[in-house]
Amino acid sequence: MGKRGELFHVVTGAQALAHEAADRIEAAALEATRLRDRFTLVLAGGATPRALYRILDVKPRWGRIDWSRTEVFFSDERCVGPDDPASNYRMAHRALLRRVPIRDGNLHRIYGELPPEEAADRYDAEVRAAFGGAFPTFDLVLLGIGPDGHTASIFPASPTLKVTDRVAVAATALTEPKARVTLTLPAINAARQVVFLVSGKHKEHALSWVVEDRERGENARLPASCVAPKDGLLVFMVDRAAAPYLSPRKRQP
Ligand code: 6PG
Repeated sequence: MGKRGELFHVVTGAQALAHEAADRIEAAALEATRLRDRFTLVLAGGATPRALYRILDVKPRWGRIDWSRTEVFFSDERCVGPDDPASNYRMAHRALLRRVPIRDGNLHRIYGELPPEEAADRYDAEVRAAFGGAFPTFDLVLLGIGPDGHTASIFPASPTLKVTDRVAVAATALTEPKARVTLTLPAINAARQVVFLVSGKHKEHALSWVVEDRERGENARLPASCVAPKDGLLVFMVDRAAAPYLSPRKRQP
């Protein structure tokens, strides 16, 4: 477990989850811009974060985050064009990014329309450049967990699990679109804070395995179990439908 440990927030319903996550991101943004004059945020893909990305509809103050000092990255991308319905960028852009004043050059899209290896090399270089050529230390990384325990586009038994010297790599998903680009575990685990957003009964088993793996502290069985920020904080933001197997202590509101 990282130096800053882990937190559990269990709430009732997807909208409450979005509000809790929005508050956590806002706090991280205020601290990062106060301390470092910028906030580096990694957006998750998939469907769960959509309610969070649309939170401006119901939480206008989320617009008070200093988006002009925010740099946005993506945890992973499907290798499709930015206008493809499967694109994680497209979902985030329609829900949030087109509505906030992010400066040119601070929106780091993964170019899914390129061949996967080329897109991964481009994103790897772009992320490093955003951190002065060094390995990134993102302020906050949002992630989901798939029913099979994958996270970002790091899937069970994939070679991506063993990558140590890259920020981003091409990967292969078990479901279409299979060609992906993903941040690696070292890039995720160097973050100051990682937030899992987990919603739905279909995630209950994967979540319980991940939490068990962390408690055992060895032989992680799932890619999401390998997310362990070295010096950062790991936060599980979970709706109650996904939490039946969590211990009562972890399920406290
Ligand atoms: C993706 C995501 C992926 C997602 C999980 C959960 O590109 O699909 O990065 O890792 O976070 O599969 O997806 P849902 O939120 O749709 O359940």
